[in-house]
Parts: sequence; C-alpha cells; structure tokens
Amino acid sequence: MTSPLPPRDPLQQLARSCAACRRCGLAAGRQQVVVSRGNPTARLMLIGEGPGAQEDLAGLPFVGRSGQLLEQLLAAAGLDSQSDTYVCNVVKCRPPGNRKPTAAEMAACRPWLEQQIALVDPLVIGLVGATALEAVLGIRGGITRLRGQWRASDQDTPNLGVLRGRWLMPLLHPSYLLRNPSQAEGSPRWHTVRDLAELRRRLIDPPLG
Ligand code: URA
Repeated sequence: MTSPLPPRDPLQQLARSCAACRRCGLAAGRQQVVVSRGNPTARLMLIGEGPGAQEDLAGLPFVGRSGQLLEQLLAAAGLDSQSDTYVCNVVKCRPPGNRKPTAAEMAACRPWLEQQIALVDPLVIGLVGATALEAVLGIRGGITRLRGQWRASDQDTPNLGVLRGRWLMPLLHPSYLLRNPSQAEGSPRWHTVRDLAELRRRLIDPPLG
C-alpha cells in the first residue's frame, strides 16, 4: 500500500506555478523566477519592485547591493530579514536593463503578489519604493513625501480585496539610498531606519479594532 502524500505547502505550489509562468514578455529574458525569501509566517512583508541581475542569478529577492543595504537598515531598526520579514517583489522576473516594469507586466504579475499576501497574511506591509507604492495602492509619485506615513488599506483602495485590514507604509528604495549615502540626522537613510522601526513598533503594538 502506498502511504498518503503529505499535504502540499501552498507557498511551494505558488513558487512552482510562478516558475512555469509565461504571462508576460519578461519570462523570455529571465534566468530564474524570483519569488521570495525570508519567513513565510512573518507578520511583516516587504514588497520591492523587481529582481535585478544578482537576484535573477540567485533566484532570491534583494541579494545584491540594494539587498545588502536593506539588511543593514533592518538590523539598525532591530529587525532580521530572514526571521522577521517575508520579502518579495511586484514582478517576479527581471526587467531588461533593470528598467521599471510596465503597467502590463505589473498587472500580469499581480495575481501572484495577491496570492502571496493572502497566504502569508501579514499585518504590516512595507512598500519598498515608488513602483511598489504605485503597483499596490495605485499612488503615482510622491514617495519622498509619502514615506513613513501609514496607509490603512481602506483609505486608499476602493476595491480592497486582499489588502483589507492590513497596514501599509511606503518606504524609500535602497537603490535611492545607495545614491544618497549620508546617515546624518534628517537624511533619507536616517528617516528609513526610523520608518522601519515604526513598522516594528506596529507589529509589537497593533492598534485595536
Ligand atoms: N530591487 C528590488 O526592488 N527588488 C529586488 O529584489 C532587488 C532590487
């Protein structure tokens, strides 16, 4: 008699489905599909733009220079990327030359992102950079003004879907911070460490209701 198969992990199934995805033209140029890294039960999800060259080779998000800086900033805020966060991107395949993904590419990849949000079920989502802010909440521009401000999902999205009940915060992208290396009080890096610490605080002390 054959023993019953163990139940499949839905996130592993998702990764398998993403690996076979050909919903947009980015599939043709990829080395690997880049789905996620970190803790699939984390209450904090970080969503970036899309894989770069290093991520495309490694098959993991945020492992290049931006990723290394993200690690440092998380550590400075008392967070560990592997245990405290689940990290993913708006698009799972590398746009050529690291260009911004098109609206059509983001829309093609959106069902994967929505499944990730539903399965990981984070309380708090950090939108890492302007593209994540645009893709997830439909807000174009204004990241330097909007960073660090909580967006209750209900406030922004008439069609809430999978975002309902979650707290979202736009964050500056580490690639911008690499171009602005000052750590002085009031600098973009200084603000980002404080924004990440605020995400951590919300995990420890969520508002009632
Ligand atoms: N930039 C992103 O937005 N995501 C990555 O995974 C790497 C760099």
